[in-house]
Amino acid sequence: MILITGASGNVGREVVKQALAVGLKIRATFQSPHIAARAPSGLEGVIMDYAQPETIRPALHGVEKIFLVGPPVRDLPAMEANLIKEVCGAGRKHIVKLSALGGRASMFPSGHRDSEDNIEASGLPYTFLRPNGFMQNLVNYNAGTIRSQKAFYGCQGNGEVSVVDIRDIAAVAVIVLAATGHEGKSYTLTGPEALSNAQIAEKISRVAGLKISYVDLPPTELKKAILSTGVPEWSADALLDLQRLYREGKASLVTNDVERLIGRKPITFDQFAHDYAFAFQEAKAAS
Ligand SMILES: NC(=O)c1ccc[n+]([C@@H]2O[C@H](COP(=O)([O-])OP(=O)(O)OC[C@H]3O[C@@H](n4cnc5c(N)ncnc54)[C@H](OP(=O)(O)O)[C@@H]3O)[C@@H](O)[C@H]2O)c1
Repeated sequence: MILITGASGNVGREVVKQALAVGLKIRATFQSPHIAARAPSGLEGVIMDYAQPETIRPALHGVEKIFLVGPPVRDLPAMEANLIKEVCGAGRKHIVKLSALGGRASMFPSGHRDSEDNIEASGLPYTFLRPNGFMQNLVNYNAGTIRSQKAFYGCQGNGEVSVVDIRDIAAVAVIVLAATGHEGKSYTLTGPEALSNAQIAEKISRVAGLKISYVDLPPTELKKAILSTGVPEWSADALLDLQRLYREGKASLVTNDVERLIGRKPITFDQFAHDYAFAFQEAKAAS
């Protein structure tokens, strides 16, 4: 039995889908019964909250491997530490942690590094998956203004990022969860090329059928805009700090870990844009 946490999230949902497709026996965790009720058939759904250890214990029963996904918030290390503590008391289980590229160089990945340190210190078998920025962020966070203003905003200048498709991250996760031989390893997951936001805008323009622009803002202006959407101050600062990392070209490396693990080339941004074109095309998205 494999436990997949964060099963309602962007990555967790895709891992569940691909794990079921290859016939893995999975239990998936949800925070809300309402969302759990909409889970795909073929899995065992449980309600779990990292902040409530009594909900973690039953989720671990009979589990050999855990895909650990925490939300991108300041408390991520503390939340994941609660799960790690419960795992330590429940026998030897292998944790496959969804981490992030960047190490100590930026706020979001640094929280993940704290959690990695906790897992290493626990003595449990582990594998760390460290993806770069997701291609799907363009759909989840930028498609609204792409459709309404034909533009998306940031402060990463001309910095190039080797963005990766969530479908490839999930494919790697399923391989690591299904097989042995990945204990003690860390994989850096990137797409096949590093792209600037101007290049991304061109590629989206092609599938949207109209000119989409990337607008680079001063960091203070971007922060104001992010805060105005209700995002907490720490998260706004972490997002800006990530943009700084990107601007400095520190997220542009391209690795071959995805190809080595899944045996095919990673999905290109052109392929991603083609597959998600509906999200960038106003008329079709509204219908
Ligand atoms: N976006 C990127 O470009 C990027 C790049 C590298 C790494 N990452 C990392 O990847 C991870 C996953 O990203 P994502 O986009 O899949 O995140 P997401 O969509 O926000 O998913 C987070 C999941 O955690 C669950 N969760 C939140 N609070 C919880 C709690 N207290 N107890 C139990 N479950 C809880 C959420 O459940 P609900 O749906 O009920 O809230 C959701 O299923 C994050 O840690 C992020 O830092 C992201």
